Amino acid sequence: MERNGSREITYPSPANDMYLQTPRLILRNFLDEDLESFFRYRNDPYVARYQGWELPYPHEKAEQFISIMKDKFAPKQGDWIQFAVALKETGGLIGDLACYVKNDDIRQSVIGFTIASQYWRKGFAVEIIPCLLDYLFEDLDMHRVSADCDVENVASYRTLERLGFRREAHFVESFLIHGKYTSEYHYGMLQREWRTKANGG
Ligand SMILES: CC(C)(COP(=O)(O)OP(=O)(O)OC[C@H]1O[C@@H](n2cnc3c(N)ncnc32)[C@H](O)[C@@H]1OP(=O)(O)O)[C@@H](O)C(=O)NCCC(=O)NCCS
Repeated sequence: MERNGSREITYPSPANDMYLQTPRLILRNFLDEDLESFFRYRNDPYVARYQGWELPYPHEKAEQFISIMKDKFAPKQGDWIQFAVALKETGGLIGDLACYVKNDDIRQSVIGFTIASQYWRKGFAVEIIPCLLDYLFEDLDMHRVSADCDVENVASYRTLERLGFRREAHFVESFLIHGKYTSEYHYGMLQREWRTKANGG
């Protein structure tokens, strides 16, 4: 469907929104009440260290982010969408997962992920990212999902490797971040590889 110059992919849930769960977590759309938690972790220098936004991250930008994301229900070609990661026990926001559908190929997506630092190393990233991968590979029929990370971002590449992503490239001083060129690893996974893994292969 052609809309504002990009094609919209609709997620076939009755409510047309995102709600996926794991034993401890929920992946859902952003809500107004996520604002303060989102604002806090966006301003955490540990969280922002390898990410594209500058600090301080203004409150108005956080408000704008929430107001845009809460009305986005499914990825659109050429656009990023971010889903909220919440603790099942409290409903509180602890992070977000991002995905982008390539402008020139509706069956290729890029992902990103953030967990607030007080929740690191509890297995939350490897617990929730498979929900997004399942959604992308099975509901949206993606052929390939990729991710890039700073070569110094051990937590990020360990997470990707633990999920079964393959390191495919090492780009040297390819990304300008916080005023400095840094090097990146590129990771990829194909739909058939995800299916083999999901079936215990
Ligand atoms: C990357 C990130 C999402 C990982 O979240 P997390 O919930 O702490 O990750 P998990 O607990 O699920 O751990 C996943 C794997 O990474 C490893 N890991 C996590 N943090 C690590 C660290 N600081 N150093 C080394 N390994 C680390 C874990 O040991 C685990 O691997 P294993 O099972 O083989 O031992 C989190 O560190 C983060 O939000 N960082 C800031 C944002 C960011 O840089 N995002 C990536 C942008 S590309």
